[in-house]
Amino acid sequence: MFSNANTKNASSYSSGPQLMNMANLTIAPCAIIMVGLPARGKTYMAKKLSRYLNWIGLNTKAFSVGDYRRKASSSFNNLSDFYDPNNIEASKVREKCILDALGDLQAFLMDKGEVGVFDATNGRRDERQHIFDVLTIKCGFKTFFVESFCHGDKIVEANIRQVKINHPDYRGLTVEEAVADFKKKIKRLELEYETIDEIKDEHLSYMKIIDQGRMFLVNKVHGHVESRVVYYLMNIHVLPRTIYLTRHGESVMNLAGRIGGDGDLSENGVEFSKVLTDYVNNLNKPNLKIWTSLMKRTIQTVSGLNNQKEHWKALNEIDAGVCEGMTYQEIHEKYPEEFALRDNDKYHYRYPGGESYEDLVARLEPVIMELERQEDVLVICHQAVARCLLAYFMDKPQEELPYLKIPLHNIIKLTPVAYGCEIEFINLNVKAVDTHRPLPANLQVTRSAHDALATVPPTPTTLSI
Ligand code: G3H
Repeated sequence: MFSNANTKNASSYSSGPQLMNMANLTIAPCAIIMVGLPARGKTYMAKKLSRYLNWIGLNTKAFSVGDYRRKASSSFNNLSDFYDPNNIEASKVREKCILDALGDLQAFLMDKGEVGVFDATNGRRDERQHIFDVLTIKCGFKTFFVESFCHGDKIVEANIRQVKINHPDYRGLTVEEAVADFKKKIKRLELEYETIDEIKDEHLSYMKIIDQGRMFLVNKVHGHVESRVVYYLMNIHVLPRTIYLTRHGESVMNLAGRIGGDGDLSENGVEFSKVLTDYVNNLNKPNLKIWTSLMKRTIQTVSGLNNQKEHWKALNEIDAGVCEGMTYQEIHEKYPEEFALRDNDKYHYRYPGGESYEDLVARLEPVIMELERQEDVLVICHQAVARCLLAYFMDKPQEELPYLKIPLHNIIKLTPVAYGCEIEFINLNVKAVDTHRPLPANLQVTRSAHDALATVPPTPTTLSI
């Protein structure tokens, strides 16, 4: 197995020992290898992890062997047939899918990728060793294994019913037919499955998640990426919940077209606060927690609600530094260069004496981590902050993030579902000014031409592993 993968040439890396050294570098690309039988939440974790790592600024991509298999296996009757070890033809297709996905992951890490997540069963010890040999010994990447292991059938059965039966793999089958076939597939893979072992696998860097987070085993975690991954995966849960995200009611500063400051609510803002209070009370969720920033306008917005409240400094609006309290027109006149620089790269631009959107994402990471630990929460924040939080849940890239539209007096209802998040904008129909400043039209043209050039793929070269 794994003898013919087509991958990009590792021409920038010269010899074995040197490559091993590279894997010890903090900046070495990192491959996260998921391990686990089907219905253990691997794809859920792989997708969520990729979204989180991209959001914190690491160029990350998940490679799911299931996607390769779906393209390649349409001629097979059902999934359990495809996983029958006696089915020679299917075994060849399975092997090719694994090699193709692994090859694409390698190519990604050799190009601009920083973290590649390899989402497959990876159930045999020799398979995992081979992946380690190819990615770490040969290519010089860090390799971190993440196993999801479940005792008993309860969690697995729930996963199958919640996620798998609605999967494209089971289109046209009844629920019971789909469940039966899925269980048969698991039985077949169980025959050769070897869980990560404290003694036999002690040389590997890994995290073993037992019973969806009841217990964790962590071995040889040295790098920055690995420790972020461990921390993140220890905080997420799969309980159903809703996050409500909204901005404060319109403020007197909004009315005047001024950014920042710590102004009070305007009349419209006070009206929004009343309508929001009714909306929240009608939800009938006494355990709904309310988080605000430390700014008057967010605290005033929820003053009529009796739910448990927490006020976070981290939720304060972006600090506009020397431009605090100014209108866009005033900034343009007083600091024309700064104004142009911000339009040129709004995500990375940092106000003199203030913050950038990139800074804001870093400031909001603890908020996201805590949100992941919670159940129902209503977050009352600010335009730039809400953009950053929404980008995390909706997997929006850095260049789109600072332009996301978050109108005043709307509630954004976020409901995590199997492999993503459902979003609903609820307009509470209270008048407000529009505070959104789009990218100027002349720059939109230049930007799309620039982006088109930047996305021309590099010419691929090939290599066998
Ligand atoms: O400065 C405060 C604004 O709410 C953020 O908006 O980043 O689009 O200028 P902006």
